[in-house]
Amino acid sequence: MSDHPRVITVGITGASGAIYAVRTVAALLERGCSVELVASDLGRRLLREELGSEATVDRLADYVATRYGNGVRKGRLTVHSNKDVGASIASGSYACDGMIIVPCSMKTLSGVAHGSARNLIERAADVMLKECRKLIVVPRETPMSLPQLRNLVQCAEAGAMILPAMPAFYQKPLTIDDLSDFIAGKILSALRIEHALYPAWTG
Ligand SMILES: Cc1cc2nc3c(=O)[nH]c(=O)nc-3n(C[C@H](O)[C@H](O)[C@H](O)COP(=O)(O)O)c2cc1C
Repeated sequence: MSDHPRVITVGITGASGAIYAVRTVAALLERGCSVELVASDLGRRLLREELGSEATVDRLADYVATRYGNGVRKGRLTVHSNKDVGASIASGSYACDGMIIVPCSMKTLSGVAHGSARNLIERAADVMLKECRKLIVVPRETPMSLPQLRNLVQCAEAGAMILPAMPAFYQKPLTIDDLSDFIAGKILSALRIEHALYPAWTG
């Protein structure tokens, strides 16, 4: 796994689970990735509501450094406006290796499933699908309606990986950080990026 992806887009939307987003961003930066970050308005709101007033998108590099340590400085973080559908990551010619939408709201899921491209997150996801690059969707909703389930299937049929925000318990988590480490670890594994975010199951 040494030749791992270097440029990864992270979309943060207004589903609960902002901690999954910041842990994923921190883990990618710790591995030296360039992270292209874009958050929806509700994504920004949930970051603040769930993690506190310091967790703003525009100062996320400092937030993750304080929370997870200076190892995150190995990577590079670029923040885009969700309104800027002319940003680099809106084009297939930009060398982006993959994209994660974490957490993914049911609204954005619908937009991705239908190729709506109403904002930068949806457009960048559309680009990943049309270019046959890795798109990882991390939905967080329960219970789910039939339209929501159909949108998940439609995204999977289009080539996205559906990686639900469903932490496991066999690794005996004690803290919320243990739970978020597990989901971030699953995401990095899906991108074939080495990590030690949770112990490997050895049988
Ligand atoms: C406190 C709060 C929690 C929410 N949690 C979820 C959630 O877990 N999953 C979800 O799909 N939507 C959730 N929503 C609703 C979305 O934020 C809403 O549908 C929004 O329009 C999504 O927009 P976005 O996809 O552009 O971020 C929540 C909203 C609020 C205010």
